[in-house]
Amino acid sequence: MSPAKPLLLALIGHPVGHSLSPLMHSAALRNLNIAGSYEAWDVSNLGEAMDELRRRGFRGASVTIPYKRAVMAYLDDLDEQARSIGAVNTLIRQGESFVGTNTDWEGLIRALKRLTEIRGGHFIVVGAGGTARAALYGLLREGGLPMIVNRTVEHGRKLAEEFGCGYFPLADIGHLEGDVLINTTPVGMTPNTGFSPVPAFVLNRFRLVADVIYNPLTTRLLREAEQAGCAVLSGMEMFVEQGAAQFRLWTGMEPPVALMWQVVREQLEQQGKGAGNRT
Ligand SMILES: NC(=O)c1ccc[n+]([C@@H]2O[C@H](COP(=O)([O-])OP(=O)(O)OC[C@H]3O[C@@H](n4cnc5c(N)ncnc54)[C@H](OP(=O)(O)O)[C@@H]3O)[C@@H](O)[C@H]2O)c1
Repeated sequence: MSPAKPLLLALIGHPVGHSLSPLMHSAALRNLNIAGSYEAWDVSNLGEAMDELRRRGFRGASVTIPYKRAVMAYLDDLDEQARSIGAVNTLIRQGESFVGTNTDWEGLIRALKRLTEIRGGHFIVVGAGGTARAALYGLLREGGLPMIVNRTVEHGRKLAEEFGCGYFPLADIGHLEGDVLINTTPVGMTPNTGFSPVPAFVLNRFRLVADVIYNPLTTRLLREAEQAGCAVLSGMEMFVEQGAAQFRLWTGMEPPVALMWQVVREQLEQQGKGAGNRT
């Protein structure tokens, strides 16, 4: 009897040099004694990369910037989550086909659920980009009541219309309150760590403040939220949980989430200043 084929996984993006995904997924594969590998591919030609995934029999892949939308054109199908969010961060092989899904929403929701109820909660989502879309999808799916706050009125309004929720310009944040504030913008990410997307005086109107940024681990927003007495959630928790969700889809096994969390945290602490968020 021939041994089982190794489980081949990859990250496709550009750049991928500082990505934490290979470290996290490789640690999980090793821990569960799964023969396989997770490679980081710095991709300049997406079509060629997809051909290679098919030709070499890859089981799946993570997709990061700048290909989360572009990859859709190369897939055989999209699931409902990828369709609604409008972006793919995970590829899964099904027979000869590659299907696109999105685990960012699940990563955020699982992380939030450790600290708060979603159903019936009032959430202010700052930003109107891809991560905001994942957040809105997840919050609405779980019965939360999100409101969008965004710098560019046109982007915010359009998203609010699509997801059927309210919108306020970022300039009006001083008039708003809720249970949870979630930053989905890159404001405050390394190297621009001196910035926060919202003024500190609004933070005591929220019980919990979450940031999707994980580099630095504690952003200015989270520091000021702690000072205002809020519970805080770093983007690292979301990052690990979106990876854990990918791992379940690829392997059908429960990943060692605590170990993944530990290796990512250690790496981020070592990096200190340096790279920005990298899937
Ligand atoms: N933790 C995780 O697992 C995870 C997963 C995915 C993404 N992320 C992180 O999420 C962040 C956002 O990524 P994305 O792909 O959603 O970005 P994106 O699609 O480019 O959207 C960025 C949003 O941020 C707003 N924005 C940008 N600069 C701003 C500023 N100076 N002031 C106010 N608003 C500003 C933009 O507002 P306008 O509409 O006004 O332009 C836009 O709505 C990144 O830091 C990324 O690394 C983390």
